[in-house]
Amino acid sequence: MAQAVKFDRYGGIDVLNVVEIPEPVAGPGQLVVQVVAASINPGEWKIRQGLLHERWPATFPSGQGSDFAGRVVAVGDGVSGVAVGDEVVGFSDERSSQATHVVVPVGQVTPKPAGLSWDVAGSLYVAGTTAFAAVRAVSPEAGDTVVVSGAAGGVGSLVVQLLRAREVTVVGIAGPGNHEWLRSVGAVPVAYGDGLADRIRAAAPDGVDAFIDTYGPDYVELAIDLGVKPDRIDTIADFAAVAKYGVKAEGSGAAATIDVVAGLADLAASGKLDVPIAGTYPLSEVRAAYSELEAGHTHGKIVLRP
Ligand SMILES: NC(=O)c1ccc[n+]([C@@H]2O[C@H](COP(=O)([O-])OP(=O)(O)OC[C@H]3O[C@@H](n4cnc5c(N)ncnc54)[C@H](OP(=O)(O)O)[C@@H]3O)[C@@H](O)[C@H]2O)c1
Repeated sequence: MAQAVKFDRYGGIDVLNVVEIPEPVAGPGQLVVQVVAASINPGEWKIRQGLLHERWPATFPSGQGSDFAGRVVAVGDGVSGVAVGDEVVGFSDERSSQATHVVVPVGQVTPKPAGLSWDVAGSLYVAGTTAFAAVRAVSPEAGDTVVVSGAAGGVGSLVVQLLRAREVTVVGIAGPGNHEWLRSVGAVPVAYGDGLADRIRAAAPDGVDAFIDTYGPDYVELAIDLGVKPDRIDTIADFAAVAKYGVKAEGSGAAATIDVVAGLADLAASGKLDVPIAGTYPLSEVRAAYSELEAGHTHGKIVLRP
């Protein structure tokens, strides 16, 4: 029997349940994938709590999850290029990947490169496409200095490395526990809290060219105060700042294609992109997984393993 994470009203983690669902069937052009790993993302708990009702409402009962990696177990009519038994990385547009099985159009999967771990493969879609879009939005050039808030989180950890690959000096804002990791990927860590602007100025004596905010409150204003031009500021967490300051808010929606996922999978498989895995949970412990994520200090990704 197949199982999926569902909730039937907005609320805290206690509304999340793992329930039995009918055996999934592949319609024309679709695949059924047995999910091995499905990462979780903050947007999911914000939707489940009703915080994004105006922007992204839920309909009940709602499933959950976009990211996944797994094995193809059925293919529908008209599918070519993918066969039963293939290992794939992909995404759901139906909030349905946190399940034993997910049904998706064939165009939403790409082969899992040999050697790429399941946990990393199942973590790439939301965080990876968001990081890709945010980096592209600020047009980084070799020699620039770019500041990143939330620099060791699910998105920030990838942003930092994509910037470093463009020969950018990266100042990463994070808690002290993440500073060693930031140094290991070539970033200059600074702690958040009182005196942050002075610490950034000390770390970037020639000025800051661009700013990527993956955290939210106050960071866009800080970027403006540091003299960064609005068209070189991207936030994925403070949408009000777009109208207020004229900054960008390019996130996953701006780069949510399977080609971007495939490119990130290749980078990760070749060791050029480190995707830190903060923890893994069986599907039955979905509430515990979100408790950890909602605490707000995740380094990298948390993964469900159905
Ligand atoms: N618009 C989009 O397309 C899109 C897509 C994905 C995510 N998002 C949003 O982007 C945000 C980040 O997502 P994520 O998956 O990276 O979250 P995450 O994995 O939970 O990471 C959050 C990070 O924030 C850091 N942090 C906590 N307090 C901080 C502070 N005061 N200043 C700076 N950093 C602080 C934490 O690191 P420390 O341990 O160092 O404190 C943690 O690593 C969320 O708001 C999410 O909803 C938007």
